[in-house]
Amino acid sequence: MSERRADAKEAPEESRLSEAEIAVHWKEEAIYHPPPKFVGQANLTDPAIMERFSEEHFPECFREYADLLTWDRYWTTTLDTSHAPFWKWFVGGRLNASFNCVDRHLEAHRNKAALIFVPEPEEEPTQFITYQELWVRVNEMAALLRDGCGLRSGDRVTIHMPMTAELPITMLACARLGVIHSVVFGGFSGEACGARIVDSGSRILVTMDGYYRSGKLLDHKANADIAVRKAAEEGVTVEKVLVWRRFRDRPASTTPMVEGRDFVVDDLLKQYRGHRVDPVSMPAEAPLFLMYTSGSTGKPKGCQHSTGGYLAYVAGTTRLIQDLHPTDVYWCMADIGWITGHSYIVYGPLALAATSVLYEGVPTYPDAGRPWRIAERLGVNIFHTSPTAIRALRKLGPDEPKKYRYAFKCMTTVGEPIEPEAWRWYYETVGRREAAITDTWWQTETGGFLCSTKPALDPMKPGSAGPPMPGIYPIVFDEEGKEVPQGAGRAGNICIRNPWPGIFQTIWGDPERFVRTYYGKYNRNRSSTDWHDWPYFAGDGALWAADGYLRILGRVDDVINVAGHRLGTKEIESACLTVPEVAEAAVVPIVDAERGRVPEVYVALKPGIAPDPAIAERVSRAIETVIGKIARPRAVRIVPDMPKTRSGKIMRRVLASISNRMDYGDITTLANPEVVEQIRLQVQGSGPVEARAGPEDIRRFGQEH
Ligand code: WT7
Repeated sequence: MSERRADAKEAPEESRLSEAEIAVHWKEEAIYHPPPKFVGQANLTDPAIMERFSEEHFPECFREYADLLTWDRYWTTTLDTSHAPFWKWFVGGRLNASFNCVDRHLEAHRNKAALIFVPEPEEEPTQFITYQELWVRVNEMAALLRDGCGLRSGDRVTIHMPMTAELPITMLACARLGVIHSVVFGGFSGEACGARIVDSGSRILVTMDGYYRSGKLLDHKANADIAVRKAAEEGVTVEKVLVWRRFRDRPASTTPMVEGRDFVVDDLLKQYRGHRVDPVSMPAEAPLFLMYTSGSTGKPKGCQHSTGGYLAYVAGTTRLIQDLHPTDVYWCMADIGWITGHSYIVYGPLALAATSVLYEGVPTYPDAGRPWRIAERLGVNIFHTSPTAIRALRKLGPDEPKKYRYAFKCMTTVGEPIEPEAWRWYYETVGRREAAITDTWWQTETGGFLCSTKPALDPMKPGSAGPPMPGIYPIVFDEEGKEVPQGAGRAGNICIRNPWPGIFQTIWGDPERFVRTYYGKYNRNRSSTDWHDWPYFAGDGALWAADGYLRILGRVDDVINVAGHRLGTKEIESACLTVPEVAEAAVVPIVDAERGRVPEVYVALKPGIAPDPAIAERVSRAIETVIGKIARPRAVRIVPDMPKTRSGKIMRRVLASISNRMDYGDITTLANPEVVEQIRLQVQGSGPVEARAGPEDIRRFGQEH
């Protein structure tokens, strides 16, 4: 270790890692060519697409996506940059998202399943919702929201629901009215939901009484009560809580309904039977929804997505990358409560008149054959999921796919880097070498895919997301803003040089944070209205190979990617501080074979308080209460003090190295270097320091940027 430390001292702070060290994590992989049968039927087989979407044709190239939609009024300006970096797409155009996802398909596809809802209990019947039925239900729900709740375009509604058909029905009902929906992942706690109600200023909360998860019926209504209470504490009154019933004939929760505030949706809808609500024609740049995501401060950011640009981008990318045709049965095994579900379960597939499968429960319930049984039964031919799900299914049922007769033509992954080993199982065992696989890199903020192979055109390279999408022009910068060229063998910060229609419009209520977080680092002229001056900073480290493929190395900020979902360390830390005995908290990611990363917590107690396992237990519970089970830490470690810089900053990078048994580098400049060895002994036990290289994102973790 001492040798490494000596090296490190000479290197400048940001480039402490040698070039060779970066990206040794996975070796370059052999490539795989797309299966000929897939190529024969693919939407995108013309390599000229890259030329059509080249910079020379920007921004007009994106007409190709927008023309997939039905516009009430065609736009006049494709891209307006006059308020950079608040880009406006398809200005002058008007459309309605609900009309585009439902009404316009009735003539050709009235009787086709739009949504197939698969309940977790296997004995419960699958629900097939045709486009006709979806249209009826969306209209009735829109009537309730408009006439029963007084909602108008521009109002916000928070939706805290599990994966059932009523969730997209509620979203589309909002979209029909131009009401901005803010869906909160069902697994988030009531408090987390309450905080999002407050930030978005919603006076209506839509929820469901219960749902199944791993064989248990969970009481979800209880979370609504907590959410409303939390919102009230912060000055926002929720006037009505609309509670969908999980079962037609009985409640799924014993939590009492609050008189005058809580209403059973199924009861209210009786009044609106047969009601029709004209879709409200919205300007292309009117917000369609908010989706909260974690950043490097404690407060989640409400990413605001547009109607026209967003819908055009998800329709276009679903068609090209998921290769969706109206005849396909498509299953994105993700949760609608995250951006993946918004873009690639609801809006993209429905805009293209596809059949989209929704599954309520966990992939491995009751066993690791469940997804393959569902695929066999429903004739799913396009499958989309996360590396975390793939790792879990592979671990529990490596040979399960062989037992079922389904045929996937293409498969995609999203959310985290996929290990070549897991990729190969996905390709060989799940896909039987007959499906094209795409690894799609993107973010909540970006609305849709930014990097992916084009499934019939580009070879697949396990572990690499692939080349940029058509019309996306990335650049990798070093810390000083110098370009790291393709093939340099060095990693840097990936940015996108240009705006694209799917990019979010702003952070709800905080435009300054929007500009600072995403453009502050590399913009050199704040008053420029030329998009070339505003590279979008994605917050990921990346390595751009000479062949044009990008390998995404993970977050460069204090964000932990747990099972493909972002958790801010500051959010978890502030949850820890709600335990009165805790003086300081630091959260770090540790590498987990299944979930990618999981949080581990370090806490220092207030003076005079003795370490006690009961305190650690309370910290863990506080995290579940404030955020949700998804953030539950692997361990809570009570330490005598935090390693700190002389200016008092907690060195999370050092703690992350200890937790991951990596060399922690130079600590001589710390205010209290002696505490590091104490913590190391406590976590790792006695024995020499291991100098094992770890993944890039953990080595960078907690560094100042
Ligand atoms: C972060 C965004 C995109 C929808 C799901 C997550 C990581 C995402 C990949 C990929 C490597 C990936 C990045 C990104 N990520 N896709 N294919 N390969 N990393 O959305 O919660 O906004 O998280 O997920 O670190 O910044 P999100």
